[in-house]
Amino acid sequence: MTDATNPAPLTSDDDWWRSAVVYQVYVRSFADANGDGVGDLQGIRERLPYLRDLGVDALWLTPFYTSPQVDAGYDVADYRDVDPLFGSLTDFDAMITDAHALGLRIIVDLVPNHTSSQHPWFSAALAAAPGSPEREFYLFADGKGENGELPPNDWESIFGGPAWTRVPDGQWYLHLFDPAQPDLNWRHPQVRAEFEDVLRFWLDRGVDGFRIDVAHGMIKAEGLPDVGFNSMTTGQRQSELLGKGRLPYFDQDEVHDIYRAWRPILDSYPGGRMAVAEAWAETPQRLARYIGPDELHQAFSFDFLDATWSADSFRKVIDTALAESTIVGAPTTWVLSNHDRQRHVTRYGDGEVGLRRARAAALLMLALPGCAYVYQGEELGLPEVLDIPDELRQDPAFLRTGESRDGCRVPIPWSGELAPYGFGPQGCELSWLPAPATWRALSVAAQTGVPGSTLELYRAALRIRHEHPALAGTTGGVTWLETEPGVLAFHRTDGATTLTCVVNISGAVVVVEGYGRPIVASEELTEQGPGHVLPVDAAAWFERR
Ligand code: GLC
Repeated sequence: MTDATNPAPLTSDDDWWRSAVVYQVYVRSFADANGDGVGDLQGIRERLPYLRDLGVDALWLTPFYTSPQVDAGYDVADYRDVDPLFGSLTDFDAMITDAHALGLRIIVDLVPNHTSSQHPWFSAALAAAPGSPEREFYLFADGKGENGELPPNDWESIFGGPAWTRVPDGQWYLHLFDPAQPDLNWRHPQVRAEFEDVLRFWLDRGVDGFRIDVAHGMIKAEGLPDVGFNSMTTGQRQSELLGKGRLPYFDQDEVHDIYRAWRPILDSYPGGRMAVAEAWAETPQRLARYIGPDELHQAFSFDFLDATWSADSFRKVIDTALAESTIVGAPTTWVLSNHDRQRHVTRYGDGEVGLRRARAAALLMLALPGCAYVYQGEELGLPEVLDIPDELRQDPAFLRTGESRDGCRVPIPWSGELAPYGFGPQGCELSWLPAPATWRALSVAAQTGVPGSTLELYRAALRIRHEHPALAGTTGGVTWLETEPGVLAFHRTDGATTLTCVVNISGAVVVVEGYGRPIVASEELTEQGPGHVLPVDAAAWFERR
């Protein structure tokens, strides 16, 4: 590889990921440079200055590899190339070079649990006979019943329905997600060697890290034992156990061998290359096993995604996540929204109330120690789009379960009066999902420079987060302060300066006093005597030097 395609990694602080703000770019919905209605790498490249000005440290890009796009790119047919829908490797190289020049790091999504059914390995496996070496790359098995007409076990796809599909010669193959996403056999040495090589391929191209998709899934229990129930037998979906119980296809001890082999590869590159696991485990202790100096750097702490709008609920998930981070000696991650979940504006009540709460939650999250993940559009206060017509929905889970993740994947509104609001080149009306008319007022252009807009709130909070000495530490916890019920207050300090974050979830206005001067607030504060009135569903940061 030439120097031009192998940009020098940023050399500063190898521990950058410990306190970074990572912006999740859902590539197909971020910015469309070529006007085909789907976002692309060139679109990201053109919008990098926006992200630098927003004040984030890194981008996580969802999969842009060659893919039939059955699961929006989480079905990869070639791990070493860019899908023409999103551009080319040349576009990738240009994008990462520009990103690094602006001080932005790039994390790419790695999808190792399964390939696309159009991956050459799977085509070869289908063409070969049962028992052949080609089938060994995947999890093929004979069925049960007199003629093998029943699936090999009772496992259920996360997208609903059986996790097994039968092929014409009578065998079945495992797919924990869509039938177009066959699970790989990670006990096969060639599978392991292939992914180690794929890691190097992207590290050589300059990526700063990986988000590991379904990081808890690669190893299945020996003998493929039944779970014992599923929606067909008891009506309970196996996926309800995610994060709460044990399943024979998730979080098996042997999966850690894979990460122990990956870590030296990451460490052999300069500049602090990292990996974050999308992992679900039964307990915080088991989740913590994915993290450490010989495994991965981070695991998403998904409890925050599930927290309801209540002081107790937030307090509990924050304390649990901070305790987890103490177990492993690495700071935690915070996630309010991502491409798989309903946007938090809507989770917190939608409309004006939901937006107020989401803005307050942003100040809560950004004041916490550790690494914060911001999902594209949350800085604009975008809600979930709830009324996408069924015929336009594209999530494969929709057909199998009736649940769809399309509502959080609608293209970003950038500017202008007409949908899709500057998502594509000027005058382009195409977008793979329609943006609602209400998004005109939420576009980047509509919010830029407008005091009190959600975008300006994020910009201000991110700037303070970067510059404020009290928030500089990457380790350690927070100090909770005594408050009235329904109010969360904690501070962080460097000794000389103290920053206090107060969130009012109590349902009534509260007067905040004694924490110094307000430096950012999600709603306007009014002075009252020596204190400030913090409105309902609002948060503010106060500073005392
Ligand atoms: C992860 C991704 C999700 C995808 C699934 C299968 O959970 O976040 O979008 O559908 O893995 O790859």
